[in-house]
Amino acid sequence: MKGNKRILAALFGLGCMLTAWAADKDVPLIQNVMGYESQSLNGAWNYIVDVQEEGYYDYRMNPTRWGFFQNAKPQKPEDLIEYDFDKSPTMQIPSDWNTQDEKLFFYEGTVWFYKKFRVESLEFRDNRALLYFGAVNYDAHVYVNGQHVGHHIGGFTPFNYDVTDLLKDGENNVIVKVDNKRHAEDVPTQIFDWWNYGGITRDVKLVCVPAVYLEDYSLGLTPNPSPVSEGKNKSNPKTREISFSAKLNKAEAGQQVTLFIPELKIEKTFTTDAEGKVQGSTFNVQSKKLQLWSPENPKLYQVKISVGTNTVSDEIGFRTIETRDKQILLNGNPIFLKGISIHNEKPNGGGRANSVEDARTLLSWAKELGCNFVRLAHYPHHEEMVREAEKMGILVWSEIPVYWTIAWKNPKTYENAKNQLTDMIARDHNRANVIIWSIANETPHSPERDTFLGNLAQYARTLDNTRLISMAMEVTGASNYVNRLNDNMNKYVDVVSFNQYIGWYRDVNDAPKMKWEIPYNKPVIISEFGGGARYGLHGPKNQRWTEEFQENLYIENCAMLDKIEGLAGTTPWILKDFRSPRRVLPGVQDYYNRKGLFSDKGEKKKAFYVLKKWYEAK
Ligand code: GCU
Repeated sequence: MKGNKRILAALFGLGCMLTAWAADKDVPLIQNVMGYESQSLNGAWNYIVDVQEEGYYDYRMNPTRWGFFQNAKPQKPEDLIEYDFDKSPTMQIPSDWNTQDEKLFFYEGTVWFYKKFRVESLEFRDNRALLYFGAVNYDAHVYVNGQHVGHHIGGFTPFNYDVTDLLKDGENNVIVKVDNKRHAEDVPTQIFDWWNYGGITRDVKLVCVPAVYLEDYSLGLTPNPSPVSEGKNKSNPKTREISFSAKLNKAEAGQQVTLFIPELKIEKTFTTDAEGKVQGSTFNVQSKKLQLWSPENPKLYQVKISVGTNTVSDEIGFRTIETRDKQILLNGNPIFLKGISIHNEKPNGGGRANSVEDARTLLSWAKELGCNFVRLAHYPHHEEMVREAEKMGILVWSEIPVYWTIAWKNPKTYENAKNQLTDMIARDHNRANVIIWSIANETPHSPERDTFLGNLAQYARTLDNTRLISMAMEVTGASNYVNRLNDNMNKYVDVVSFNQYIGWYRDVNDAPKMKWEIPYNKPVIISEFGGGARYGLHGPKNQRWTEEFQENLYIENCAMLDKIEGLAGTTPWILKDFRSPRRVLPGVQDYYNRKGLFSDKGEKKKAFYVLKKWYEAK
């Protein structure tokens, strides 16, 4: 390469490095984003389907500086620009592209999204602007006014960037490259039994926060009864101990953090330490003045937390969750978890659920079933789903998509799973109804899998030691009619959960003969059972796909579950039929998994009434 070309190449490389260096604007996830003023960026976004990633790579597959993120426009008549966001079609965000554009129903690849927005610089003069995404599936590169601000991997957890220094007075733009292609080293991997909905599937906000803001906080009952009650009646102590901690976005000591719980007449001021934290503060309240959160009384207290002149509002429930031998104790009392599994899919017609209305509809169906518990499978659902369940008195099992054949030996895969676990807990750790963090579903046994999941379980406890850890395991057929749970992960979990499909993947007539060997002195949840039925298809109970087949399967399974010692709950599979690329039987499945108790249009199948009746008797 001639001398001057070499210099040019070096300058180009330096330019890329500087661009890259200047780019990353990742900041830790802001807790309770709903508690801050924000400008919604939801609405119509232009999009470009980029099958060969022309907008990101040159023809030698090197990242190009002249990609779509430049949003370049011809300056002279002879200029060659082969894209134009402003002239491209639009779709409503948040959404999945699969249900917004029929050409994209099966599409897996890259789509570019573009949104213009205005800010008045006064808004952010003394504040910071965080660009917040509720979720983007699956791999996202984000640009503001042509500058790369971050790269996020993981399709179901929120993330945010401090973009303050990139904003201009007046018009700005945000561009997102979304790629939902599947890979063996991803989390989940390249095979999973749900639709690979791609896109900016949850809310996008420009959040206005002060230069020093409350990045995170925790408020809840101390897990074990307060020392004050030691020796006394632990299940009904005279006082309850509340724990409070907080973290500012800056390591600033001496900042005043004031906690208000008006209904309890609590106003307490704390001072941050050198790390900008309030750590492990506790105070007592009289038990008789404190209503504990429960399914029967989902009491939430208005809470305000002030840092300087900035105040964040939240609604907090107080409860304890623990296990004792084979029992799960909520507020010290044994509880049977009458649950149902749910995918994060709209109540009818498919597509990612992402609104309060979606949440209320799905959760009202669970309530109608008689549930006090939902398994939000197989990944963190949208935040409104958890918050609406909290208001409705529905306990939650929340899960990361460590599903089936994960690349256990790949360090990047572990980091990805760890990041998703971190962000799931970071978002929802103040929700009283979340009682179980699940780290996996139906993962094949191996030493590498045990190491991966054991580390993940231990890491989860460092983030939150107030909740129960579980995972959906698999039973092995010890003999013809004996199912044995034999999973090395039993020592890492608080609740032993497993999926079983007697009646679907095995003859339903075996159900009465089945014995279950669960050699662990821990509560047991059957995290899946069920079978498929096409709504409206009727016939004899031995005819697969009829409602009568599914109904009989539920009758036999409920009778079988009644005989399992230490059963503390169940979350049958599943509330509603859901889209899956693996379910292709024409006229019956048509790319839907039909194990729902509701059809994909919200119609109740006969098995719905079997489970409802069984729960009523519980
Ligand atoms: C598995 C898996 C689910 C799947 C179900 C089924 O247990 O956990 O994600 O949908 O079986 O086969 O329908």
